[in-house]
Amino acid sequence: MRVLVIGSGGREHTLVWKLRQSPRVQKVYCAPGNAGIAQIAQCIDIPVAKIDKLVEFAREHEIGLTVVGPEAPLAAGIVDAFQAEGLPIFGPTRAAAQLEASKAFAKQIMQKYQIPTAHSQTFTDPQEALAYLEQKGAPIVVKADGLAAGKGVVVAQTLAEAKAAVEQIMVQKVFGQAGAKVVIEEFLVGEEVSVLAFTDGETVIPMVSSQDHKAVYDHDQGPNTGGMGAYSPAPVLTPALLEQVEAEILKPTIRGLRQEGIVYQGVLYAGLMITEAGPKVLEYNVRFGDPECQVVLPRLKSDLVEIMLSVLNRKLHEQEIVWYDNHTACVVMASAGYPGDYTTGQEIQGLHEVSALEDTYVFHAGTAKQEEKFVTAGGRVLGVTAWAGTLEAALEKAYNAVKLIKFEGAHYRKDIGQKALKHR
Ligand code: AMP
Ligand code: GLY
Repeated sequence: MRVLVIGSGGREHTLVWKLRQSPRVQKVYCAPGNAGIAQIAQCIDIPVAKIDKLVEFAREHEIGLTVVGPEAPLAAGIVDAFQAEGLPIFGPTRAAAQLEASKAFAKQIMQKYQIPTAHSQTFTDPQEALAYLEQKGAPIVVKADGLAAGKGVVVAQTLAEAKAAVEQIMVQKVFGQAGAKVVIEEFLVGEEVSVLAFTDGETVIPMVSSQDHKAVYDHDQGPNTGGMGAYSPAPVLTPALLEQVEAEILKPTIRGLRQEGIVYQGVLYAGLMITEAGPKVLEYNVRFGDPECQVVLPRLKSDLVEIMLSVLNRKLHEQEIVWYDNHTACVVMASAGYPGDYTTGQEIQGLHEVSALEDTYVFHAGTAKQEEKFVTAGGRVLGVTAWAGTLEAALEKAYNAVKLIKFEGAHYRKDIGQKALKHR
């Protein structure tokens, strides 16, 4: 079978890496991919937004399975476009992708189907939003309704910050139409965890848990990023809590959507806060997380192609999914300036040395090739990932690899996985 992966980051490198391990796969293409992906797949120069070109490519190359990495093409209806042509594609339809593309929609579903989440209200009028903030006080959380590349959420410690966020999102429209509505919600206290699940719209099978590190600096300081690292499993999610998440969050979400006439097929990602009152949904994503994918898929023993095909055929209930009983850690190395404006084009050294290390793999997020040399080409550059029998050992391997890799201005968090170790 020929497989096409859509996207160009660390998540997509991981998907390509795992999919090509399947004995059913002869060839993997990636659109548009990056320099790391190009080492193990054929990259094709089609941007993720060019849905008609991607459909044409899949038809002409007889692609047996297309896998969509990022949210933007899902929200734009890439799955609907492929399905209309009878082309097999893994991911939710445009209607289902609203769960991520509109926080107001997600909140509506959670309220209607009694899925635990922060209390909230949605506004289209900035004056009303400001009046609500006055009434509620800080700390409080302001979220742009639409897709804003992970930057549309402001956790405001003061009323002034919250008001400034409403002003920027709704009046200055820094995220454009994504800020036509805002969701204002209660500030939740607890530890975060990501629970991803495969679902065919009926059966829901959770993957192993993971934890992202969203803030740019150690000890969760500084602005939020796309994610500076991750590990799996996350001990905060005990087996009892996982059962609760399945019964009270994952299954009711998929069942609720079905009652709305939406069959959700793909990966459902629940970003959760484990509060004193139990797990609550912070956000849904309609895809693998990045960098959660980098720590979850290396632990998957089963054939990912088979799982994905069973999702498409709505036969997930027949599928057995087996995981390795190990620990993974991913440390993201980022460009100088990220998550603000960042530099690119810096030569990356040490990748060859790291490629010889055991149980270590470098997933490329933003790299390019210039005359046989790898150079930086994005904010997040590399996801240095390792696995071992314990989290301590996985972290040691990952950080040992990080120390061998050099590029001008590189920065990374030194405290990946520390929250897990505190659970001991
Ligand atoms: P989101 O994109 O909605 O997951 O929000 C990004 C980040 O903001 C989350 O990972 C949390 O760290 C934080 N956050 C979002 N909503 C809340 C909330 N209600 N209370 C506390 N922190 C939140
Ligand atoms: N790591 C968070 C996300 O993928 O949205």
